[in-house]
Amino acid sequence: MVSLTRDELTRRTFLTHGLAATGLAVTAAPLAARSERAQTTAGGSFPKGFLWGPATAAHQVEGNNINSDGWVLEYMKPSMFAEPSGDACDFYHRYRDDIALAASLGFNAFRLSIEWARIEPEPGVYSVAELDHYRRVLAACHEHRLTPMVTFWHFTSPRWFAALGGWENPGAGDHFVRYCERAAKHLGDLIGGAATFNEPNIPLLLKWIFSAMPHNPFAGADGMMKAAAKSIGAERFSYFVFGNGEASRDVMLPAHHRALAAIKAGPGEYPVGVTLAIADEQAVGEASRRDEKRELLYGPWLDAAASSDFIGVQTYTRARVGKDGDLPPEPGVELTQMGYEFWPEALEQTIRYAASRAKVPVYVTENGVSTEDDTRRVEYITRALAGVSKCLSDGIDVRGYFHWSLLDNFEWNFGYRPKFGLIAVDRQTFARTVKPSARLLGSFARSNGPGA
Ligand code: BGC
Repeated sequence: MVSLTRDELTRRTFLTHGLAATGLAVTAAPLAARSERAQTTAGGSFPKGFLWGPATAAHQVEGNNINSDGWVLEYMKPSMFAEPSGDACDFYHRYRDDIALAASLGFNAFRLSIEWARIEPEPGVYSVAELDHYRRVLAACHEHRLTPMVTFWHFTSPRWFAALGGWENPGAGDHFVRYCERAAKHLGDLIGGAATFNEPNIPLLLKWIFSAMPHNPFAGADGMMKAAAKSIGAERFSYFVFGNGEASRDVMLPAHHRALAAIKAGPGEYPVGVTLAIADEQAVGEASRRDEKRELLYGPWLDAAASSDFIGVQTYTRARVGKDGDLPPEPGVELTQMGYEFWPEALEQTIRYAASRAKVPVYVTENGVSTEDDTRRVEYITRALAGVSKCLSDGIDVRGYFHWSLLDNFEWNFGYRPKFGLIAVDRQTFARTVKPSARLLGSFARSNGPGA
């Protein structure tokens, strides 16, 4: 007889029955009600219980994340941030309305992150009030029948963590695992699915992209981080996105596995995975470095995902890789506000690639486009979902689609200029205006797929 550990059991239950089933078995009534709705809306090639939702991240929407490393850097002079995050979208106070709005559009899920800098303001000091805040946010999701997909870390960390060397500190994993354990204990019964890290591969991805550019856009980062250290009276200050990608990868890989176990040890039964920034890497010419790039940027994390419950795919565009690295977009192609190519077909390819390597269920945890012209977002969504549909028809186990983003929000060093939102936000009044793309995606969510 084979005996299974609790982790194996959870994983197998998840692999067999999916997120809805595992969450439902142990959680309260609102989740059960949501499952019924999912089962009655099956259509198209999308499986029953498929998750449809918008994606958000704490620092980008909540506002006043003043204890975070990102906040410190935004106020350095000079700063690499076009403007500070400030009040962001005031989601910290307006979450109830935003969650209700997302539900009213037709979604059945919601991706958000909890903010470590709020939860652990000093090393080992946990704020019960902030943990309770996130309980209320998660409870609001359940009230509106949205499965909450929770990211435990989405780029920002407490400033004390940056002062210890951030993710380049070999002891960083211990801090992160303790935080995950504490947060999961407090929140686990309300979580529907979780990611340890958001895009831990992003520094290496940016390094690769920048290496093909004549000027490194992050050239001033070291100076800014030195100034940040000085401003908080620390010897060091390491912010993940601008830091050493090799060093952080080596610390984060084992931390992911330990955090996953710590999260699963808490209350609730839900799948835990990791999300990755993945472009559709296209080889140009026989000597293309495409495979080398894939192995470097995605290989170790897809292998880590292989022993997790799922892989979160986050795709925005394609990259054309030649013998010297990435090639610039071809002349005349449509570019997004971020400067990269409008290429919604990328998603189909990245799902196929991630699924074939990790061999675990896939959630699209981010996909979207920055544009002032919402008709382009409509086009993008329609074409990206056609790709998801093809993957499903080929038997690939895709379980959800989270669109980046719910709101026009703080796009890191680019500030508020790029518009990724399904919903516009007035920067003075915080008034929300629903865009046609939100209604379209919401209608797909209601009918469980385009063309259903
Ligand atoms: C990140 C988000 C970001 C989005 C759009 C992803 O890399 O997870 O935080 O806003 O891409 O650039």
